[in-house]
Amino acid sequence: MNNHALCWINQTIKPAAEASISVFDHGLLYGDGVFEGLRYYFGKTFMLEAHLERLWSSAQAIGLELPYSRQEITAAIEQLIEQYHSDSGYLRLVVTRGQGSLGIDPGKCANPSLFIIADELSVMNVTDLSQGVSLHVSRTRRSPAECLDPKIKSMNYLNNILARIEANQAGMDEALMLNLDGYVCEGSVDNLFIVSDGVLKTPSLDCGLLEGITRAVVIDIAIGLGIPCEETRLVVADLERAEECFLSGTGAELIPVRQIGAHVFDRPRTSLVPLIMHTFKEKIAEHCTKR
Ligand SMILES: Cc1ncc(COP(=O)(O)O)c(C=O)c1O
Repeated sequence: MNNHALCWINQTIKPAAEASISVFDHGLLYGDGVFEGLRYYFGKTFMLEAHLERLWSSAQAIGLELPYSRQEITAAIEQLIEQYHSDSGYLRLVVTRGQGSLGIDPGKCANPSLFIIADELSVMNVTDLSQGVSLHVSRTRRSPAECLDPKIKSMNYLNNILARIEANQAGMDEALMLNLDGYVCEGSVDNLFIVSDGVLKTPSLDCGLLEGITRAVVIDIAIGLGIPCEETRLVVADLERAEECFLSGTGAELIPVRQIGAHVFDRPRTSLVPLIMHTFKEKIAEHCTKR
């Protein structure tokens, strides 16, 4: 948390350090809740509709009714952006089951709670992301859809956190998670792309990953640029054979990967990833300034 962080809670905005929720909130006790992270640039949100849509569908999937309308949440976000010290930042929308007596039953919680944090976010402890990050292929596999549908952006991130702990212990920047069948799934907080023989490839949704909003933006960009794009099943050897690799996510934005396990990508790289990254920045500027 930085000193500037703000929080919208109970319809008021306060310094995030002064915002609090009950120790009986089932979000805290059981991870019973859903969230979204979105960025804003030049004072305007990026892909807000898609994030609200996913928040609503995550909430619906766990039988949680949001305590505010989309208009009210949009207004709260606008107020936060206006009061935050910078014209770009990261917003975390969290909806918890709310306060209830001990015991897992969601029926104990009458009123869901919602709060929104405005802060900065760096998803990896790396000073110069443009040099690329290293991925550790974690032993912890992504939990399958049969156990927890990855479409639900829930407050249960322990699966991903365990993978990230492994990456930290291996001295690597981010974890690469495989699914139970050994196919590449995603990073702990991001989706993954490779460029292989001039084709942009990313794990297909049936591999059990979060349907990333940035992933969809990248696919759109590739289509717009006429770059062939495939959603497919990949194994680690496919990544090692690729010309390039990068991660996508709201927090991550687009980050090149320079190393996966012991494999270091050769230089020079193709020109496709710089082109996609440049177009991504253009898209943000266009989306956030022309409103
Ligand atoms: C597990 C996981 N995969 C992928 C992503 C990227 O999704 P998005 O681009 O919607 O932020 C995230 C980030 O929220 C994530 O936590």
